[in-house]
Parts: sequence; C-alpha cells; structure tokens
Amino acid sequence: MAELPKRSDDFRSVLMDVSVVGAGHVGLVTGACFADLGHSVVMMDNDARRIAKLKRGIMPYYEPGLEELVERGVREHRLHFTTSMKDAVAKSTIIFIAVGTPQKASGEADLAYVDTVARAIAEHLDGYRLIVEKSTVPVQTGQWVAHTIKTYLKRKHVFDVASNPEFLREGTAIQDFMKPDRVVIGVQSVRAKRLLIELYKPLGAPIVVTDMNSAELIKHASNSFLSMKISFINAVAQVCERCGADVEQVAAGMGLDPRIGRAFLNAGAGFGGFCFPKDLEAFIKISEQLGYNFELLKAVRNINEEQKRSFAIKIQQALWVVKHKTIGVLGLAFKPNTDDMRYAPAIDVIKYLQEEGATVQAFDPQAHHEATTLLPGVSLCRTAYDAARGADCLAVLTEWNEFKELDFRRIKALMRQPLIVDGRNIYDPQRLKSLGFRYLGVGRGRVGSGHRGPV
Ligand code: UGA
Repeated sequence: MAELPKRSDDFRSVLMDVSVVGAGHVGLVTGACFADLGHSVVMMDNDARRIAKLKRGIMPYYEPGLEELVERGVREHRLHFTTSMKDAVAKSTIIFIAVGTPQKASGEADLAYVDTVARAIAEHLDGYRLIVEKSTVPVQTGQWVAHTIKTYLKRKHVFDVASNPEFLREGTAIQDFMKPDRVVIGVQSVRAKRLLIELYKPLGAPIVVTDMNSAELIKHASNSFLSMKISFINAVAQVCERCGADVEQVAAGMGLDPRIGRAFLNAGAGFGGFCFPKDLEAFIKISEQLGYNFELLKAVRNINEEQKRSFAIKIQQALWVVKHKTIGVLGLAFKPNTDDMRYAPAIDVIKYLQEEGATVQAFDPQAHHEATTLLPGVSLCRTAYDAARGADCLAVLTEWNEFKELDFRRIKALMRQPLIVDGRNIYDPQRLKSLGFRYLGVGRGRVGSGHRGPV
C-alpha cells in the first residue's frame, strides 16, 4: 500500500484557490493532493450521487491512501465538493479540467465532455481565470479549449488556457502526484506560467515549461513509449519460449543499460487499463489525421492483442482440451492495488476460455464489484484458495502481493491438477516444480518447456 505522505507545514508557497472539474481517477487525486499542499480546492462533478457520496467520505473507486487524504482535506476545510460549475468558477483562480476522454468506436478520443466543460466555464467566467487541461487529450485540444471559451464567453474577460498532463499511475497515484519525476506545463503566457510554477512549487519537482501542443504530445508520447516497451519485451518473450531462453534474465540484462532501463520490461499477459490501450489508439488516430501513419504503434497494439490470446492458448494447450475443465483465476484488475478492470487482460483471457467451454472461478482482492457485470458466468470466490479448489489450472493474471505468499502445499491439495500458468511471472519456477507443480510462465521457455505434452 502506498505510504500516505505526512502533511508538511513548512511549505513556503502562495496558497491558491483551485477548482478541479471531474472527480475521476485523475481529478480526485489532483484535488485531494492540492488540498493537502494547503491550497483551497473545490472539486466539481456533475454526477450528483458521486458528489453526495464524497461528502460522506465514500470514495468512487479504490486507491490506496485516497480516503485518508480526502478525509483530511474535508476536516481541515481545504477540500470542498460541488455539482455547481458556477461555484467552481467563482471560487477559483485556476480551474483544472479533468473529465473523461473515452474512446470512440473509431479509436479517436471523444472530447465532448471537455467541450461541454469549456462552454460551461465560459458561461460563468466573471474575471481572469487560468483554465488548465489535465485530462489526456490529443494534441491541439488546448487550442480548441481556448477557442471554445472565447466563442462562448458572455462578457469579455481575460483568461489563459494551459496544458498540464498528469503522469500518475493507479494504485500509486498519491505518491506519483506528490513526488513526480517532472511536472509538465504547456503555456501561452507568462502569467499562466508563473501561476502554475507557484502552484507546484511545494512539490520540489523539476518543472518542464513548453508550448501547449508540446505538453500534450509529451503525455501521448510517454504513454505510447511505455506501451512500446511492454510490447517489445512481450515479443521477446515469444522468442524466448521458442528457443528455451528466460525473458526475466533477458530483461534484467537489458535493463542494466541506463539507456534502456529495467522499468516496464515485465513480460506478461499483456497491458490493460483505461490509459495505455485507449491512448495508444488515440495517438495512432491523431497522427493519421495529421497525415502520419504511425506503423510502430500499430505493431505495439497488435502485439498486445496477440499476447492476451496466446496466454489463453497456453492454458488450453497445457490442458489439451479446456471444455468442461475448471480454470481458477487469480487477479482480475488490470494491475494490482486497484479495483479497475477497464481493458483488463483478464477479460479477454477469460472470455476466450469460456468460449472454449471452460468453467472459470476467480478471485481478486478488490475487483469483484466490476467483475460482476463485466464477466457474466464467472464464479467469484472469497479467497485465492477457493479459486484453486477443484481447478485443473490456476492462472495468474494480476500480480497482487498476496498471491506471492500463498501456501502452495494447500493449493496443491485443493487442485484437481497441479498446473500453474503464471501470466505475471511472479513465482519461482524451480520452487513450484519442487513442490510438484507443473509451471508455465511467460517467456520462460527453459522451465516447463514441455508445455506441449501432458507432463
Ligand atoms: C499509466 C502510466 O504509467 C501513467 O504514467 C499515466 O499517467 C497513466 O497511464 C495515465 O495516462 O493516466 P496506469 O494505467 O495506472 O498508468 O498503469 P501502469 O502501471 O502504467 O500499467 C499499465 C498496464 O501495463 C498494466 O496492465 C500493467 O500490468 C502493464 N504492465 C506494466 C506490464 O504488462 N508490464 C510492465 O512492465 C509494466
């Protein structure tokens, strides 16, 4: 669990009035963290139920440390919630737009929420404001936001628009926000630059100042690059499986080169979440609209799709026939420390197995609520051991820490066949083999290389 940063009282910064529009993953963390830095924050969302719950201290999603941070902000009167855009505009100097930018059927980002918010801000503007785009958006969105506000202003007021992409990860969002590697601000005026530098000063992080288009591209390029690293190592894992090499050793050897780095070279059952798959698609699309065919990113996407499929096929081949067999799944969320299942690899893998006639029983420490609607037909178990009970195969799809410390003697006694297919390479193959398991990881060709046969 992320360690909740203690509130520091020695920040020497000008305290500001900030509004954040959109209480989703990025918006709520942003608002709660700014409040914790001492700023006065109004969190606005047009979802009245969400705001009512937040006022009662109920979080809309699971994020380690967030509840405590929100509770502290509310108790100390620095964090307020509203459904009124008028309030959000009236009580702030800086307004962050952190609404969703979901994917359209065409793959491009749907900017309707951003447009609606820009128009609503314009309607209530009564003096200078700095409007900051924080949602992940295609390049040139900031320019469109500025144009939209100007078009819909009721009276002539001076305002600035800036881009300030967020790089936080779900599960470690608060630490990522409070201790960022860098803060990127894309601005068009000295006034906007000064305000944002002042706002972020307490974090003590390097601040990269660019124009708006470049800031927007930094976000898309960063997420796409990280996705590319994952697909690269997953492609290497495929080769490892075919030649008897171990991708973990390959990644360790590559990662020591500081030009490459070990981070995001974890091979597995593919990447998911609401950011990488969607942002990759959106970047491919915007590049296309700008006249560039980003073939590299298309390959990144295709490798990821194939990786999920090949993981399901690995289970199928290990069992010979999966029809009427029981597969226990450990982990449904797209990664640990979150209850988020959006674009989770577990969805594709489980659907494939179900289509082949398997019975699936699964356990995830947080994601059961989402799984109920996303995965009909899957029995959700109370513990990892229940997921192993009577199973012909135990498949790991999310690397929750608690799965690393299971009692494998007990697991073996519960399973019908002692087969573990590890989609996150969290187990030591030799150890599991010595306990009598048949073990298949991802890209760990040498160990368990006989996965085409029954033993
Ligand atoms: C990602 C970025 O890491 C953040 O910097 C960014 O702010 C965020 O998207 C966003 O745009 O909002 P997040 O989606 O929370 O953050 O999750 P990651 O930790 O990046 O993981 C994404 C997926 O990649 C997960 O499914 C994870 O299992 C997978 N992954 C990650 C791998 O398969 N291998 C790795 O080595 C690393």
